[in-house]
Amino acid sequence: GKDDRIARISSAIRVIPDFPKPGIMFQDITTLLLDPKAFKDTIDLFVERYKGKDISVVAGIEARGFIFGPPIALAIGAKFVPMRKPKKLPGEVISEEYSLEYGTDKMEMHVGAVQAGERALVIDDLIATGGTLCAAIRLLERVGVHVVECACVIELADLKGRERLGDKQLFVLVSSL
Ligand code: PRP
Repeated sequence: GKDDRIARISSAIRVIPDFPKPGIMFQDITTLLLDPKAFKDTIDLFVERYKGKDISVVAGIEARGFIFGPPIALAIGAKFVPMRKPKKLPGEVISEEYSLEYGTDKMEMHVGAVQAGERALVIDDLIATGGTLCAAIRLLERVGVHVVECACVIELADLKGRERLGDKQLFVLVSSL
């Protein structure tokens, strides 16, 4: 059943203490990718939720949204749009700044990748403070795209990133402290 799949996914995620710095418990999804059954279950759970929902865009956030987004996009018949770090995309871009613990970062998307009125799903591996997903939502909404939902494999629930998304829906497979 669904709970068995979630349990397998959860145990396939490796937690590495003090990476990239002391006090951070890093949620490492590379071990999930090493377990083909758990990786497939991860994609299937998202596909089961989003197929038939008239979603034409799966927007994946660099870097690990590029791993989970494309198989979901293919399975639901949507296009995949990469939301990239600055100066990576070669064409004309629209960009959105967001704040980090120290300083700011920027997210970029190609102009023309999406059209006003399209319905999008935003995918990343993990939500911490929610700042990254918020920037992706703002970027898509600025060009008139409707963000149906955001989806992540892991939520760091203590950081309350979900609250930062306001009334935008967030779907996660595994909630961790
Ligand atoms: C991680 C994660 C999300 C983001 C979430 O990316 O993959 O994209 O942080 O954090 P937030 O909810 O507090 O905004 P990271 O900064 O490690 O970048 P990377 O994927 O390029 O390694």
